Amino acid sequence: MLPRLLLLQQLLYRLSSYDRGSLHIMVDDWAEEYGDCYRLSLPAPGICVSDTPTIMAVLQQRPGTFSREAGLCEMVINFGFRGVFTARGEEWKRYRRLTAPHFSRPNVRNMVKYACDMAAKLCSNWAKHADSGEAFDCMAGCALYALDVGCLAVMGRDVGALDGARAGRDALRLKDVISARLCSPLPLYRLFRDDETEAAKKRFDSLVVGLIDEYRKQQEATATATGDAPAAAAAADAAIPAASSAVAAPNSNLLKHVLRATDPGSAAATDRSALTTAEMVGNVKTYMLAGSDTVGAGLSWLLYYVAAHADVQEGISAELLTEMAGAGGVNSEGLEDTLTWDQLERLEYLDAVVQETMRVRPLVPNIWTQAERDTAVAGVAIARGDSVIVNLRKPCRLDANFTDAAAFWPERWLIADGKRAPPEGVADFRHNKVVGSFGFGPRNCPGQVLAVVEIKVAIAFLVRAFTIGLAPGQGAPKEYEGLAMAPDAVRLVLQRRQ
Ligand code: HEM
Repeated sequence: MLPRLLLLQQLLYRLSSYDRGSLHIMVDDWAEEYGDCYRLSLPAPGICVSDTPTIMAVLQQRPGTFSREAGLCEMVINFGFRGVFTARGEEWKRYRRLTAPHFSRPNVRNMVKYACDMAAKLCSNWAKHADSGEAFDCMAGCALYALDVGCLAVMGRDVGALDGARAGRDALRLKDVISARLCSPLPLYRLFRDDETEAAKKRFDSLVVGLIDEYRKQQEATATATGDAPAAAAAADAAIPAASSAVAAPNSNLLKHVLRATDPGSAAATDRSALTTAEMVGNVKTYMLAGSDTVGAGLSWLLYYVAAHADVQEGISAELLTEMAGAGGVNSEGLEDTLTWDQLERLEYLDAVVQETMRVRPLVPNIWTQAERDTAVAGVAIARGDSVIVNLRKPCRLDANFTDAAAFWPERWLIADGKRAPPEGVADFRHNKVVGSFGFGPRNCPGQVLAVVEIKVAIAFLVRAFTIGLAPGQGAPKEYEGLAMAPDAVRLVLQRRQ
């Protein structure tokens, strides 16, 4: 018989864990106590699974047998974020087909410039901390950086979050409010009016609608002038300045990509099932939200590890010295401001550090799904509407899967790839493919290539510019699960590198 948690026990745990953002730790603790598959009754009757074959089996059976958990989707939709994340069945297929290709590897190649522009800005902003020697919490800056790059990639606009511009503040507010609602044990926010958030939502929506109109008009005008739709699309790309210094690139933002792919009059269209303006707004906000909290949290964790492990920081710095020195431009403050896709691809050690950070601190520890029909998981009957919580965190932290799993040891990824030999004394090196940082199956993260680029570019620029240390008293951060699992605080001190 499957172990079952008592309803009261869950209720008490949930209420106490929500405000601490530690629901994911509770889910893990129960797996420790009750095993890789146990029954629970909240949010709906269902089970929680944490062994990799079962995890993969559940996540692969989407969109047909499982969808995202309904309560989570309802909350997100009520806040105006109806898009690929919340969609089910045929609607999901349509959204995914029209949006995800924009974040393919060849397209993301053209987005490295966005990350470089914003990383240079982040370095300039943080230079004041280096000059004053004052400790500061890096999390806000990381969140603003992720928002700016994300908005460039999805809307083609620099919303100026790092500059404190209003559009950036609006985007930040929407992200923060929805994250807070997700952590709220009871939907008390429904009882209160929040005029400022409503105003931010309206302004942000009209910014996106305005851009859609602008791109549509440019597309039509160029098509009429040339009578050549593919050329028109390319010319429209060139006509719209995406970022201050960004080069025009094919499909350089998600809105233009969707408009081009669905334009009924265009020979370049690959799909005629156009999205309505409301659907475009919902999806733009979805991508902006899904990309910013996760990348901001990931970058903050990485900065913690880089600051806490001087040897890791010097490893990254040494690799950058060979790749970046003399290769790119330098801005007015003497800080480097260019890194190419090909250079990024060669930064093997940095890649290992990113992967190791996501292993020890999975940014999305659980995926909450719901059965669309009666089915079975690992031999357990699941009724339509039951929830299945997939615990991605536990397999990443097991000694059975990774040698010395508790240790932060980036070199393990190079050893696993055959690029380094295991150290003496490690006879049975274990490195199993269980890390699902970006989920598994058809609904896995479409933004994963961009996410890794964003994190690498920011770390590369910051490590080239500064020696990064932990502020006095900064120990290992606590994990806080909101939209993504973030550290509670990462206080740093910076010194300019010579
Ligand atoms: C380090 C950063 C990121 C992490 C760890 C992450 C992780 C994830 C995970 C675990 C999922 C659920 C996958 C599943 O259900 O199997 C997901 C979904 C999603 N992510 Fe990401 N993500 C990151 C960055 C991004 C970025 C930058 C974007 C946008 C450019 C993005 C857009 C999305 C979208 C739209 C979905 C929903 C996909 C669907 O339901 O079809 N993510 N992400």
